[in-house]
Amino acid sequence: MTANPSRPTVIVVGSTMIDLVAYASRIPKKGETLVGDSFQMGFGGKGANQAVMARLLGAEVVMVNCLGDDAYGDMTLENFSGFGIDTTNVFRATGASGVAPIWVEPDGSNRIIIIPGANHRLTARQAARSVRDTPDASVVVGQLEVPQETTAAAFSAARETGAITVLNPAPADSLSDDLLASSDWLIPNEVEFEMLTGSPADSDGALVDFARQTDTRLVVTIGDEGAAIVSGTGHGVVRIPPPPVDPLDTTGAGDAFVGAFVVGIALGLPEQDAVRLGNACAADSVTRPGTQSSFPSPDRAERFMTDIL
Ligand code: RIB
Repeated sequence: MTANPSRPTVIVVGSTMIDLVAYASRIPKKGETLVGDSFQMGFGGKGANQAVMARLLGAEVVMVNCLGDDAYGDMTLENFSGFGIDTTNVFRATGASGVAPIWVEPDGSNRIIIIPGANHRLTARQAARSVRDTPDASVVVGQLEVPQETTAAAFSAARETGAITVLNPAPADSLSDDLLASSDWLIPNEVEFEMLTGSPADSDGALVDFARQTDTRLVVTIGDEGAAIVSGTGHGVVRIPPPPVDPLDTTGAGDAFVGAFVVGIALGLPEQDAVRLGNACAADSVTRPGTQSSFPSPDRAERFMTDIL
């Protein structure tokens, strides 16, 4: 793959899941059976979602993942091919692919359980080799749905190739020293930020302190308040609101943000514009049901990009 500055290459080292989404008036109580409103099965996994969003914005995307040898794995490969995502580095292992039961309430809020399956079989060696084999990539992005040592190995290979590394620490967990040391950017949401730091994301001081302690650039996504970015000088915080929308299903909005933000960074946009692009794609996605199925069409995504440039 040859580098093209207007069509940067993004490597996603991350998960795939089949999302099993139930829409209901409320979450059932312990021991209760509830009649839901509707059901949707779709393609998800934080890694795959970020890969799809980046691709919808025109990036060349290389997915690095491990699928099971089941029908879900076959369907996921086909889905990637349909988007034109490079699957050379998607591996297969015996057993089940990842699945994610999801519950969405009428205000659009979601609750998710992931069962990682083959996602946890992606090895550090496979991930590092995949990054080295793609030396033109501008950005390598990871999350916490594959083993941390795997993502750390990919990020340290990115240090050799010169790619920027972006970690979306989701689902929240304490971060290994290796992973933190090889991450240039951290993008938690406000819940993950609070779990990592013990402080709420509405405190500018807490954001600045965390960026300093971890020696990373920091963006925190804050639902309908958009995102907060610690300035490049590390002194201040800029809070950037999203376009107002009526949320139907917020599942995957954070992934739309991360996928779009990394394209902005890969294109060399000013950081606050990369945040604006992330906000626009995420806000648009919450107006439709599902995860990848809710993401903006390529035309719409291009319009968001044009509005920002
Ligand atoms: O961020 C949303 C995603 O989290 C879903 O697609 C689900 O699969 C889990 O990975």
